[in-house]
Amino acid sequence: MRITMIGAGYVGLVSGACFSDFGHEVVIVDTNEDRVKGLERGEIPIYEPGLDELVARNREEGRLSFTTSLAAAMPRSEAVFIAVGTPARRGDGFADLTYVYGAAEEIARTLSDPCIVVCKSTVPIGTNREVLRRIRAARPDATIDVASNPEFLREGSAIGDFKRPDRVVVGAESDRARDVMRKLYRPLSLNETPILFTGLETAELIKYAANAFLATKITFINEIADLCEAVGANVQEVARGIGLDRRIGPKFLHAGPGYGGSCFPKDTLALVHTARAAGAPTRIVETVVAVNEARKKAMAERIVEELGGSVAGKAIAVLGVTFKPNTDDMRDAPSLAILPALAAAGARIRAHDPEGMEEAAKLIGGVEWCDGPYHAAEGSDALVIITEWDAYRALDITRLRRLMQGTAFFDLRNIYKSAEVEACGFRHFGVGLGRPGGVAAVPDPAAAPRAGFG
Ligand code: UDX
Ligand code: UDX
Repeated sequence: MRITMIGAGYVGLVSGACFSDFGHEVVIVDTNEDRVKGLERGEIPIYEPGLDELVARNREEGRLSFTTSLAAAMPRSEAVFIAVGTPARRGDGFADLTYVYGAAEEIARTLSDPCIVVCKSTVPIGTNREVLRRIRAARPDATIDVASNPEFLREGSAIGDFKRPDRVVVGAESDRARDVMRKLYRPLSLNETPILFTGLETAELIKYAANAFLATKITFINEIADLCEAVGANVQEVARGIGLDRRIGPKFLHAGPGYGGSCFPKDTLALVHTARAAGAPTRIVETVVAVNEARKKAMAERIVEELGGSVAGKAIAVLGVTFKPNTDDMRDAPSLAILPALAAAGARIRAHDPEGMEEAAKLIGGVEWCDGPYHAAEGSDALVIITEWDAYRALDITRLRRLMQGTAFFDLRNIYKSAEVEACGFRHFGVGLGRPGGVAAVPDPAAAPRAGFG
């Protein structure tokens, strides 16, 4: 099949490259000329494992190409995908649909009849129907269908997620649209991936509900982590203890500094606003959003507290600034709340990240960017691991201790065992690692609640 993908961001690039790998002929269109020129030279604008090789191979075999011109891409396209950004609008938090509707208008101008318009961008409920209405109004002559096909790609494992998904969700209202979508995803039927056909609004809501549920799961375990610290329990064991119950499941129960990224923060907010506007508020999700925001800020406060109430003039080594490993994406990363707060309190930040330093430097000022974890540690009073990159999982702790001036080891992802770190002379602060009997077993009910590490 011949398809057009609008948007060469994370979603458009990965989806386009994977569809071409399925054997389809894919043209990816992006308004950003530099990005398209770079892609034509084989330069991948994002860090996603395996994507460079996938793009190169499919370009060589003639199934994948890039252009800035939708008009050039559209002829003979059986389906056109919209994969442009839907950032949260400043001020009100609603998803900004300027790019989506802009793409719809351009599709109306250039489409070849008949055409299926497939929305991959995460859009508020009702958007697909509005896209259809706008295109039909502009082109009453043409046979047009719309399908909602939300993505569930995780950055860092996006290609695997695309090729081996738990399910494919397709909102569509005609047999023609369902047939085209079935043909596009045919290679997945070999491993019996369920394709769930629904209406447009249902497909749109599935995406938001999935992300909000996962964000809730993370936020739930984060609050349990705080409780663990207060009562001397261990959150990793609690997570395992509840996760073995198949009704709960073991995934997304890692306590940490709060969720970030391009989807959870934006999509939970969008769901909250949609639900309020529809007169059916989602109070659980509203609370999740507020608790997660507060948590990111509280992380910096707890670091200051554990360092004796002041970090003025102290050097803090920070390992990992991206919102999670295997990406250079900084969107809503916890580091964006933690680093400026520490700097504002007078700390000198010496940070390292395997892939994210270039992006991060644009967003966080006054940081000394270092060549590696040991370089960052030199002369530091404290070490803070914010992102659990593999490169930080087997650090030489003795060497770190020798290089550092202080002994505080903040491990916001619980990648080390306290005993191992403490044997090298550090004080280990994980998340939710209460010490049995070490903290008041029966906490003072009057004590102020706190978010942080134990
Ligand atoms: C975005 C959204 O954030 C996500 O919620 C949605 O599910 C899919 O789209 P992502 O692919 O990461 O995810 O967006 P981004 O990295 O911002 O890429 C968008 C691309 O579209 C950019 O390359 C941009 O230049 C391009 N674009 C944007 C167009 O080609 N045309 C436009 O009109 C607007
Ligand atoms: C997410 C969804 O998983 C994906 O299905 C959707 O399409 C886009 O949003 P992504 O944002 O790439 O993917 O990353 P994910 O692995 O889900 O992590 C999101 C955030 O939650 C990260 O900041 C991560 O550190 C955090 N997280 C995740 C936790 O703190 N604990 C966990 O147990 C899992």
